[in-house]
Amino acid sequence: MDDPADATPWSGFSSLPDGYRAVVLGSSGGIGSAFCRIVKDDPRLGELLAISRRDDGFDITDEASVERTAAAVAGEPIHLLICATGILTAGEAGPEKTLRQISPDVMLDTFRINAVGPAIVAKHFLPLLDRRGRTLAAFLSARVGSIGDNRLGGWISYRSSKAALNQIVRTASIEIGRTHADSVIVAMHPGTVATSFSSRYAKNHDVTEPDAAGRSMLRTLDGLDRSLTGSFLAYDGSPIVW
Ligand SMILES: NC(=O)c1ccc[n+]([C@@H]2O[C@H](COP(=O)([O-])OP(=O)(O)OC[C@H]3O[C@@H](n4cnc5c(N)ncnc54)[C@H](OP(=O)(O)O)[C@@H]3O)[C@@H](O)[C@H]2O)c1
Repeated sequence: MDDPADATPWSGFSSLPDGYRAVVLGSSGGIGSAFCRIVKDDPRLGELLAISRRDDGFDITDEASVERTAAAVAGEPIHLLICATGILTAGEAGPEKTLRQISPDVMLDTFRINAVGPAIVAKHFLPLLDRRGRTLAAFLSARVGSIGDNRLGGWISYRSSKAALNQIVRTASIEIGRTHADSVIVAMHPGTVATSFSSRYAKNHDVTEPDAAGRSMLRTLDGLDRSLTGSFLAYDGSPIVW
């Protein structure tokens, strides 16, 4: 059961350079805004760029918007990139409980936001990571995107969009690793976190507050060895089967 309850104070990144530059995409979300609150308190932070659709018109489904945003932050290299965007369903009816509820349009829209969008982010933002030293990038995925761990069925659009995201992150990590030898790029499951995203579906889960989940994930990221680039991990660093 997910329980990233983490009351330990955040002491900041020790593995990133002093004055590091951080970008959080989806900063208006429950988890994205928690990341921003926490990173802002890091005494070693140089600059935080908190970017969202709501506040900055950053639309992950529109490549021109992603490209424009990347160009706007490209002046200096990035050391920490977090993509915290995502949706549970693009439909009014909620995630599918049965194959009969599959709607091609809803499925495609879910993929557009959860998989194609992060791929476009990878295309335009990952090359901006600093080539000269350690950098970290996390794309928020979900344990239910694991194929090996799927025992319940249902939620087919969300599950498969996150499975696609995981493959995108893995593939991107290999390519970027060739030019950015110290980059660590992962797909990360945040746990079940109390945000508007999960409010209708978290009834049978232990739910974690966004700041506690955010601290867990940042601490995990800080400690990741370079050999773990391209992996699918939970908030606490435990590996999740593909
Ligand atoms: N909460 C959980 O329990 C849970 C569990 C597993 C995985 N996750 C994953 O964690 C991530 C964040 O979840 P959350 O709980 O923080 O959700 P949230 O509070 O609903 O936030 C979602 C974020 O995604 C952004 N977004 C949605 N569509 C977008 C688009 N087309 N272009 C740009 N931004 C877009 C939203 O921007 P606007 O504010 O502009 O709408 C918002 O910033 C998601 O990938 C989710 O799948 C969450």
